[in-house]
Amino acid sequence: MKQLQIGIIGTGWFSQVHADNLIAMEGIKLQAVCGSSLDKSEQMAMHYGATGYGDVTAMLEAEKLDAVYICVPPMAHGEIEEKLIERGIPFLVEKPIGINSELPRRLLKQIEEKSLLTSVGYHHRYNETAARMKQLLSEQKVGMALGQWMGGMPGVAWWRQQEGSGGQFIEQTTHIVDMLRYCLGEVKEVYAMYGQRVMHEQHENVGVSDVGTVTLKLANGVIANISNTCILPGNVGSSGITFYTGEGMLDWNPSRLKVVTPNMTTEYSNPTNPYVVESEAFINAVRTGDSSQIRSDYADAFKTQVVAYAALESANTGLPIRIQY
Ligand SMILES: NC(=O)c1ccc[n+]([C@@H]2O[C@H](COP(=O)([O-])OP(=O)(O)OC[C@H]3O[C@@H](n4cnc5c(N)ncnc54)[C@H](O)[C@@H]3O)[C@@H](O)[C@H]2O)c1
Repeated sequence: MKQLQIGIIGTGWFSQVHADNLIAMEGIKLQAVCGSSLDKSEQMAMHYGATGYGDVTAMLEAEKLDAVYICVPPMAHGEIEEKLIERGIPFLVEKPIGINSELPRRLLKQIEEKSLLTSVGYHHRYNETAARMKQLLSEQKVGMALGQWMGGMPGVAWWRQQEGSGGQFIEQTTHIVDMLRYCLGEVKEVYAMYGQRVMHEQHENVGVSDVGTVTLKLANGVIANISNTCILPGNVGSSGITFYTGEGMLDWNPSRLKVVTPNMTTEYSNPTNPYVVESEAFINAVRTGDSSQIRSDYADAFKTQVVAYAALESANTGLPIRIQY
C-alpha cells in the first residue's frame, strides 16, 4: 500500500484529534504541521515525528503532500483553501467553512472548476444512528422537527467574537442544521431571533449572541425549529434533534437514537467513532479516487453554511430570509 503524506493546518485541540486518528491508520505518514505560530507547530510536529511550519506556502513548497486537513477557526478560512485548490491538493476542512456564505461560495466555484476532492467535518453523518434515522424517516411522513444545542461558551477568544466564529449558530449549531438537511433535504426559508442575555455581563469582549431560536421551512413542507444557547455553566446542557412523524418520535443525540411508537421504544447506539469513519472515507477517496463514502463534501456543506448564515441575516434584519444557494 502506497504511503500517503498528510499535512495538518492548525495546531489546536481538533488538529490533535485528527492527527491521533490519522497516525493510527495504515499507510499514513503525518508529514507536516502548520499553524500561525512556528513554535507551536514545531512542538506538535515533534510529537508526531513530522515537520513544523509557521506558513502555509512554505509548507506546500517544501513538502509533497497527498492531502491536507484544515482545522482553523472560522475566520481563518480563505487563503489556505485557495493555496490548496491552486495546487490541486485534496483537503478535509473542519466545519464551519467560514463566517458568512460569500467566501465559501467563491471557494466552491474554484473547487468545482478543478473537480477537487474535498470533505467537510460534519462527522455526525458518519454515526450509524444518523444513517438509520435517515432511512426510517424516508419511510414515514414527517410533520416537524425540533433541534437544539444548549451548552456553555467555549474558552477560546475567537469564539466570542462575531467576526471570529460567526456566532454559536454558525459555529456549533451548524451540526444540527446539517443533520436536518441530511435527513430531510433542503431548507427553503428561515426566520430567526437572537439575543444577548448573560455572557456579555460575565465576560469581557463577548460580541456574539448567547440565545437564539431559528424557525425553518423545508422544501418538502416540514416545519422545524432549532434553538441554541451558550449561557449554561459547567457540563449542563444537551444537543440533538427530534423528528415528529405520523408513526411516532425519533429522538437523536450524538450518542444514541431513540425511536418511540405507541407500542415500543427502541434505542440504538453508535458502535464506531464517527471521526475515524469520516477520516477513513476521505483517505480512501484520496487513495482510490472513489469519493462515494464521503457524506459531506464542500458543495453539500456549503448549503448548510448558507442556511446558518441566513439565520444570522434574519436575526439582524428581523425579516424572514428565503434560501438561495
Ligand atoms: N467536528 C467537530 O466535532 C469539531 C470539534 C471541535 C472543533 N471543530 C472545528 O475545528 C476548528 C478548529 O477548532 P479548534 O478547537 O482546534 O480551535 P483552536 O483555537 O484550539 O485552534 C485553532 C488553530 O488554528 C490555527 N490558526 C488560526 N489561524 C490560522 C491561519 N491563518 N493559518 C494557520 N493556522 C491558523 C491556530 O494557530 C490554532 O492552532 C473550528 O472551526 C471548530 O469548529 C470541529
